[in-house]
Amino acid sequence: MNLVLIGFMGSGKTSVGKLLSRSLSMPLIDTDSLVEERLGLTIPEAFSRLGEERFREEESRVIEEVAAGDGQIISCGGGAVLRADNLERLKRNGKVFYLRISAEEACRRLDERDDRPLLAQGEDRLERAQRLLQAREPLYMEAADEVIDAEGKAPEELTDEVARLWKGSG
Ligand code: S3P
Repeated sequence: MNLVLIGFMGSGKTSVGKLLSRSLSMPLIDTDSLVEERLGLTIPEAFSRLGEERFREEESRVIEEVAAGDGQIISCGGGAVLRADNLERLKRNGKVFYLRISAEEACRRLDERDDRPLLAQGEDRLERAQRLLQAREPLYMEAADEVIDAEGKAPEELTDEVARLWKGSG
């Protein structure tokens, strides 16, 4: 069984994934990093040079490959839930944890960062985050086996919560 982390940008999937990997002694696969590796581009470069569609195709390919493995922590890009195929594959042999935050919190946490092309800096950033999250929230909820309230929580606390639920379900 794989431990799958989903959630909006800035929800802490990567930090929590790293901590979980250590505490549960399971390898961590980060789909964004794999996509970057495969394309030989950073995510902002992939979006600007190839476009979102091509990025999503590579993301789906990566998810298909990693979902076939077992005993891994899979930290997914925030848009992985946009394709039903991705979810079906991840859920076949995975327990899905949704790290749930608000659009406000996402913007706070990503305040200084400009590596999320869909949330590029600009005065309407919060509005864009709200719109994206509103559209995705039903998909995250539908995909989740466990919903973790991540608002205002440190990665360490979230890691403990996920690890407890993971062990309990073992
Ligand atoms: C995206 C989230 C990003 C990355 C890309 C698109 C999204 O991953 O895959 O910028 O559509 O929500 P993180 O959720 O790890 O930031």
